[in-house]
Amino acid sequence: FNVPSPENEPVKSYAPGSPERAALKSAIEEARSAKIDIPMYIGGEEITTEKKLPLSPPHDHQHLLGHFNEGDAGHVEQAIDAALAAREGWTKMSWEHRASIFLKAAELIAGPYRCKINAATMLGQSKNAYQAEIDSACELIDFLRFNVSYMAEIYKEQPQSSPGVWNRIEQRPLEGFIFALTPFNFTAIAGNLPSAPALMGNTVVWKPAYTQIYAANVIMEVFKKAGLPDGVINLIYVDGPVAGDIIFEHPDFAGLHFTGSTQVFQQLWKTIGENIHKYKAYPRIVGETGGKDFIVAHESAYPQEVATAITRGAFEYQGQKCSAASRAYIPSGMWDEVKKYILNDVKDINMGGVEDFSNFFNAVIDEKSFNKIAQYIDDAKESDLVEILVGGSYDKSEGYFIQPTILLTKDPQYTTMCEEIFGPVITIYVYQEEHFLETLELIDQTSPYALTGALFATDRQVIEMATNKLVNAAGNFYINDKPTGAVVGQQPFGGARGSGTNDKAGSMINLLRWVSPRTIKETL
Ligand code: ALA
Repeated sequence: FNVPSPENEPVKSYAPGSPERAALKSAIEEARSAKIDIPMYIGGEEITTEKKLPLSPPHDHQHLLGHFNEGDAGHVEQAIDAALAAREGWTKMSWEHRASIFLKAAELIAGPYRCKINAATMLGQSKNAYQAEIDSACELIDFLRFNVSYMAEIYKEQPQSSPGVWNRIEQRPLEGFIFALTPFNFTAIAGNLPSAPALMGNTVVWKPAYTQIYAANVIMEVFKKAGLPDGVINLIYVDGPVAGDIIFEHPDFAGLHFTGSTQVFQQLWKTIGENIHKYKAYPRIVGETGGKDFIVAHESAYPQEVATAITRGAFEYQGQKCSAASRAYIPSGMWDEVKKYILNDVKDINMGGVEDFSNFFNAVIDEKSFNKIAQYIDDAKESDLVEILVGGSYDKSEGYFIQPTILLTKDPQYTTMCEEIFGPVITIYVYQEEHFLETLELIDQTSPYALTGALFATDRQVIEMATNKLVNAAGNFYINDKPTGAVVGQQPFGGARGSGTNDKAGSMINLLRWVSPRTIKETL
């Protein structure tokens, strides 16, 4: 079980004047003008259809990047058949060769494909260069490399034997195909959700969000270039319910690897439950869903650190990370100072297209999302319970731009303290110092989610007490840091309650869900 020891991929800075910035700029230029026709990939074949749907950058929706080919029910069936046909060869391939393909994919992204995948993420998902680099380059490379080492750990684990008896565990792939459903907001997640089950010997039908297809196409190109055999991962662009109707009725459906909304995940779980008698085996259901992630400061915290966590945690990638800070609780004696630092931070935020690298802040993903976020802001404008401290305006004439917005509320149960918005809106509640304990209880109870949360304090007893009190409030709990930016191999990521099954992306826990162990006892 000798595999390369993984290390986190260093983040490139794309500093002004650097050759790497020039290379990324030219990849963006090329992607903007390429007008590509993006096929589906079924059984290794590139599939085009009569139905060409346009792709545009969210920050520049009049510009056409190209088209993708939408499929129908027949394509879903073909993709399942291709996955099942590829199963035999893939499950028999030794683990070293499977691992090598994904390690090669990591090297391709780290080297020749880095600018291409970053440019695709920047244009397709409106991510600035730094946010694209930490996602579509570094995090995806890390997932691919670290998963191989976790796989080796899993295969290494064997039971005790005794004289005359040899016991073994065989980590079989699941019996059927896996369905990977990926969200728009992370290219790394798009790469990880199909590749993690495939690494463990499974074959996959992969359906990305339509707003992520531009980058998904590059991931597939990389997998193919790395030598992934035909049919192991089949990439389809089909309307969700059309795909779901076929996939969840299929007797060989063996598992769902999902990242997306809580509502969709619950619906899929119900559908799987209703069809449970049709399947050969109980399917594995792994999902990472919503969040209502918090920052809580104790009076012993440093105000500037709290302010930075609020602005970075809430506004990086326009607040469209499931981990984004979207509610904050600040002690009254500290509020004036925290506010001063926040106002200072936000005055330097430039908003605009990703092509201009000085824009920290870009557009939200699409019109539906824009309208939903704008509605929360409009409601806040009407409410007596809340004041707009920063931002509050929006404009979709060229791109789906919403200003970074900070609301201040008198009511800790106000809608935007409880509901997931998935945009650049954070609500702050200022509490009285003597109510710190009640504030922790409030944090634990005001939302159904439990994904990420951050505690700021320097008093060690307080840190210990609050960490215990908030034990179930977040699957990723940060002490004196913002609640975003988990690094593979360092902070395994995932939440419980309404936030998912907490099978930690990029970890052994996750990979164990994609195998079905067989215990073998041999009498010698
Ligand atoms: N893994 C991502 C983060 O931690 C969602 O921000």
